[in-house]
Amino acid sequence: MTTPPRRVRVLFDETAIARRNEELAAEISAVGTENLLVVAVLKGSFMFAADLLRALHRSGLSPQVEFVHLSSYRTGTVSTGQVEILRDVQSEVRGRDVLLVDDILESGRTLVFAKDLLMARGAKRVMTTVLLEKPGKRAVTIDADFVGFACPDAFVVGYGMDAAHAYRQLPFVGVVDFDSSEPDLFGGT
Ligand code: IMP
Ligand code: MG
Repeated sequence: MTTPPRRVRVLFDETAIARRNEELAAEISAVGTENLLVVAVLKGSFMFAADLLRALHRSGLSPQVEFVHLSSYRTGTVSTGQVEILRDVQSEVRGRDVLLVDDILESGRTLVFAKDLLMARGAKRVMTTVLLEKPGKRAVTIDADFVGFACPDAFVVGYGMDAAHAYRQLPFVGVVDFDSSEPDLFGGT
């Protein structure tokens, strides 16, 4: 039996996310890239990456797209610090400008791991973008080049991000209300 869905309190709604994606795309295209390869870190970034790619297109870029599936081991909602490659990139990375796309920057271990991997493969430059950044949570030193929103210190779900494999489909980012007595509602405030 599956756990019944809980009410999710909206943090960043569809309109805010869409607006921010256009701004991020404008910032990224202003950098000036050559033969850009966008590498989305699965699974959590799939929705952000899909929307950002379309915004990049509207900003005049024609990136190629790749995926790397990384798993950062967690006990419950806390990172243990180990990162494993579940699916590697398949395109040639050597000599290219790469934009790494991830959902959320917390300890920084996932992004550092992915960036080191692509640099080791010979990327010319690896830029990073995350939808959300949790300030003050870093275990390793890394800053994303392009950040969507500063995120409160809470476990967030939606817009690709999950809690125990649920909530990825939500079109907004929110916080699961574990105290709610009304189980079946999404998007309540
Ligand atoms: P880091 O390696 O600690 O920076 O963690 C980054 C990864 O952990 C992200 O790519 C997410 O997949 C996951 N993560 C961190 N915080 C959250 C959260 O609040 N909700 C859902 N996933 C999270
Ligand atoms: Mg992730």
